[in-house]
Amino acid sequence: MPLLHIREMTHYFGGLRAVYNYNLGIEPGQVRGLIGPNGAGKTTIFNLITGVYRPTRGSVVLDDRNIVGLHPHQIASAGLGRTFQDLRLWRHMTVLEHVKMARYSRLTYGLIGAFFGTPLRQREEAESEEKAYHLLEMMGVGHLADQIVVSLPYGAQRRVEMARALATEPKILFLDEPTAGMNPEELRQMMEIIRQVRDELGLAIFLIEHRLKMVMELCERIQTLVFGEVIAEGTPEEIQNNPKVIEAYLGKEIAT
Ligand SMILES: Nc1ncnc2c1ncn2[C@@H]1O[C@H](COP(=O)(O)OP(=O)(O)OP(=O)(O)O)[C@@H](O)[C@H]1O
Ligand SMILES: [Mg+2]
Repeated sequence: MPLLHIREMTHYFGGLRAVYNYNLGIEPGQVRGLIGPNGAGKTTIFNLITGVYRPTRGSVVLDDRNIVGLHPHQIASAGLGRTFQDLRLWRHMTVLEHVKMARYSRLTYGLIGAFFGTPLRQREEAESEEKAYHLLEMMGVGHLADQIVVSLPYGAQRRVEMARALATEPKILFLDEPTAGMNPEELRQMMEIIRQVRDELGLAIFLIEHRLKMVMELCERIQTLVFGEVIAEGTPEEIQNNPKVIEAYLGKEIAT
């Protein structure tokens, strides 16, 4: 049984069929890619799996548990972390506060502990801060821990968002165009970070990305989505040579 198993997921926005009969099985530690032209339905697939929208039809099973109908925060607690296509950070909080805030969903001391400062709370807080620092170091932004997020360059903000997604200790990480708008140096760093997350944390990753070279380098298997339907699925080589994929991209982006 895969870690994440989706069967025949379909979604309509009013009369628009945004996703049709979508299937996916991700094994633990696997890196999967989702590509397709603008408006194909890629972000909608993420939103359906993470509980932002409820699928019109189909099943989504995470770790043997049906998650259709759960709230996004419940799905996050069940082990699914994500970043957003349009960076969503709390602009006036510090870098460290972001990651600590996300970790609160994992802490166990509850309301009484929060008010009365029990030893359990103090121990959990200290551990939490240590783990938050560790994640920020791993993302290469440890030295920025006390900075206000809004004051950071874009690439660094993206890395803070990634640290926040990892702070809940997910089993699988969804990344929606993590390199959108990045310069070549930021892009290189982000690729290195994704590799590190895969190799050191052993997480499964599901990546939406327009930069095909990057998808081809990072992913074991890739799906191509056009008008809400998967038209091709396979290894990077298979996808690169698939005539339907080449047609969808008019041949031009495949080589870049
Ligand atoms: N909340 C919504 N209500 C109505 N239509 C929507 C909604 N969200 C997305 N859509 C439509 O669904 C289709 C798929 O959109 P989606 O954002 O999933 O595409 P995408 O593949 O992520 O595109 P991009 O590469 O530009 O990010 C589009 O036609 C879009 O306009
Ligand atoms: Mg999108």
